[in-house]
Amino acid sequence: MRKTLGGRQPSEGFLSHGAVRDGNALVSKDGVAAWWLLLEHLTEDDLEMLEALLVDEELARAERFHFERDRQIYIAAHGICRGLLSYHLGQPAKNWRFSIEDHGKPELISPAGGPRIRVNISHTRGLAAVALTSEHDIGVDVEWRHRDAMVDELAQRMFAESERRDVQRACKEKKLDIFLAYWTLKEAYVKAIGKGLSQPLDAFEFDLNGLNITFLDRSADDPDHWHFERYQPGPDHLMALAIRHPAKANLRVEAGPAPMEFLRNLAQA
Ligand SMILES: CC(C)(COP(=O)(O)OP(=O)(O)OC[C@H]1O[C@@H](n2cnc3c(N)ncnc32)[C@H](O)[C@@H]1OP(=O)(O)O)[C@@H](O)C(=O)NCCC(=O)NCCS
Repeated sequence: MRKTLGGRQPSEGFLSHGAVRDGNALVSKDGVAAWWLLLEHLTEDDLEMLEALLVDEELARAERFHFERDRQIYIAAHGICRGLLSYHLGQPAKNWRFSIEDHGKPELISPAGGPRIRVNISHTRGLAAVALTSEHDIGVDVEWRHRDAMVDELAQRMFAESERRDVQRACKEKKLDIFLAYWTLKEAYVKAIGKGLSQPLDAFEFDLNGLNITFLDRSADDPDHWHFERYQPGPDHLMALAIRHPAKANLRVEAGPAPMEFLRNLAQA
């Protein structure tokens, strides 16, 4: 498994093949690309540029947020989603269309004749992320590390037994991070399968050391077909990725900050 972690300059393009310009899909079924964007790194111009990538329906939705920070992170998430698609598929950002599945998961209406492109976004206070692959189920989740949550109670109510114990035993300083480590992985999985929170979170459990999943009903899903990644995009955020893949040893995951220069050029195109 080859992967590239973050840590590069936000303005730098980091995918090995560079941006696509002529409309050929370069996302293979073994390749996964993820971008994140920290709101604190954005100028007003950057936000306007990201806004210019959105379609009317998204702009109207952005206007309906009560809080400016929610509006901004929504714009950032949908802007980098369109940007990542254009980076890989070489079409204008506004071209992308989505259908909404049964439990609310948006699925890209993939370009005719090409592979099925799979994409998922997540946004939380101060951070947006997007993950993309071809054919296979993919989910991403990001969380803010300073959430004021009743984590023991939440874990008790929603997690599997080993996870509940782990959260309960954790010292005060580590408790929220351990809770969020499980939470992001669980959300990434339920988003990858498209069920969201209609999927009970206590029906499967994670081992944080090996990032392995176990299904309490063994016939429910195949743990060997799931690959998980965890990242810390900045001091205040945690992120997890879930990818279903029949031969996960072949997976190549490239994750890092969204390349602002590419996005700027895209917005001006
Ligand atoms: C919708 C849900 C799948 C994820 O919600 P979330 O963690 O609040 O939100 P995220 O930012 O990670 O993801 C939202 C995005 O996922 C996508 N999405 C929506 N429904 C989805 C589904 N069923 N499956 C996968 N993706 C979905 C959408 O693109 C959505 O963004 P948009 O509304 O701007 O288009 C669902 O699991 C949920 O409601 N979770 C509750 C969140 C919560 O209680 N958090 C407390 C943490 S302590």
